[in-house]
Amino acid sequence: MSVRSRPPPQIDIIKVSMKCIRWNKSYELGIPEIDIQYRILFNIIKILVDSVDQKREEDIIEGVLTEISRYTYYHSETEEKLFEKGTLEIEEHIQEHEKFKEDISKFKVMYENQPDEELVEMMLLYLQSWIENHVIGIDRRDLLE
Ligand SMILES: [Fe+2]
Repeated sequence: MSVRSRPPPQIDIIKVSMKCIRWNKSYELGIPEIDIQYRILFNIIKILVDSVDQKREEDIIEGVLTEISRYTYYHSETEEKLFEKGTLEIEEHIQEHEKFKEDISKFKVMYENQPDEELVEMMLLYLQSWIENHVIGIDRRDLLE
C-alpha cells in the first residue's frame, strides 16, 4: 500500500480529552464549595473517559451521564445562590446554566436511546468547551467580583 492511499490517522478523542480535561490548581477560585464541585466535575469526566476507554457496559456509562446531569443542576444552584441578582451579566450567566442543563440532558437521553461512543466523544468535546469558556470565563468574572 502506498503512502498516498493510506487513510488519515484517526484522532482518538477519548485520549485527547483525557489529556485536556485534567484538574489542576489553576482552576481553583478560592471559594471552597465551588472548588470542591469543580473537582467533582473533573472526576466524573475522568470516570466517563475511563469507562469508554475500557469499553464498559452501556448501563455504567449511563450512570456516569446521570451523575454529570445531576451535577449541572446542583452546581448551577450553588453558584446562583452566590450571585448578586438582577444584573444583565448575571441573567446571561443563569441562561448559560439553563442551556448547560438542557444540553447535558439531551446528550443523556440520546445516549439512552442509542448508546454510541461517538456521542460520548461529542459530549466530552462539549464539556471541554464548557470548561474553557464558562468555568474559566464567566464563572471567574461573576464569582470573583
Ligand atoms: Fe457558572
